[in-house]
Amino acid sequence: MIETVAVTRYVTPLREGGSLPGIVEGADLGTYVCKFRGAGQGPRVLVAEVVVGELARRIGLRTPRLVALDLDPEIARYEADEEVQDLLNASAGLNLGADFLGGSFGYDGLSEVGQSDDGVAAKILWLDAFTANVDRSWRNPNLLVWHGRLWVIDHGASLYFHHGWPGGSLERDGAAARFADQPWKPDDHVLLSHTVELPRADREISALLSKDVFAEVLDEVPDVWLEPVPGADTPDAVRAAYVAFLTARLGTRQWLPEVAAP
Ligand SMILES: Nc1ncnc2c1ncn2[C@@H]1O[C@H](COP(=O)(O)OP(=O)(O)O)[C@@H](O)[C@H]1O
Ligand SMILES: [Mg+2]
Repeated sequence: MIETVAVTRYVTPLREGGSLPGIVEGADLGTYVCKFRGAGQGPRVLVAEVVVGELARRIGLRTPRLVALDLDPEIARYEADEEVQDLLNASAGLNLGADFLGGSFGYDGLSEVGQSDDGVAAKILWLDAFTANVDRSWRNPNLLVWHGRLWVIDHGASLYFHHGWPGGSLERDGAAARFADQPWKPDDHVLLSHTVELPRADREISALLSKDVFAEVLDEVPDVWLEPVPGADTPDAVRAAYVAFLTARLGTRQWLPEVAAP
């Protein structure tokens, strides 16, 4: 499992984010961006953050180190803002933390760092296609520039298939195969112009991923976020469902955007 760090102080909300993230300090003296379990979208978005963030790392992308932030609701007592108090009280236990990249700024879709020929842009496109991430548009790139390099963040909107699981979609025949076949459209993607580099990225990344790698990545997810759903009633059964969906998708390429003729 990802490392657990106790929260020692709530510092400030990150007002720009839709999921009410905040900056917190940890007992390891680290500063983290915290995604709260009580933020309303439920623990599944935190699962997506860990699974896709750790996949990003495996395929050679830069992404902040992730931890499980253990929150004692006592911390809420020192908080004046009522909205924040409610959020902290609803989030006792494990939340998601990402190393705070101090001094980073949002990628604007234009600057040179995304245009260089290091293959990073195509790898990001590949990852978003594979995990069906719709959250890397021009309006909302979820890319940071830090020390002159691109860093990927915010993967909570990927793997949206899991939002159907509580309603029983996992039990329907061919659920994993349906995800495997689901196309993905790059039209709004901030790195759309790199589609032509996808074949090379596909070759490189295919050699790095497998069912075993997916199982390792799912092992990083805390049990408490893997809530039982019809067809998977233990954390390990839920893990196996994610591994099956990802493995099925890796076995196809319908989701990889059509490559423009050279
Ligand atoms: N690890 C980080 N380091 C520095 N800033 C961050 C980090 N993660 C997020 N941010 C900032 O906070 C904003 C909101 O975070 P994000 O993960 O995108 O959450 P949301 O789901 O609310 O969009 C980002 O757009 C970025 O400006
Ligand atoms: Mg975001």
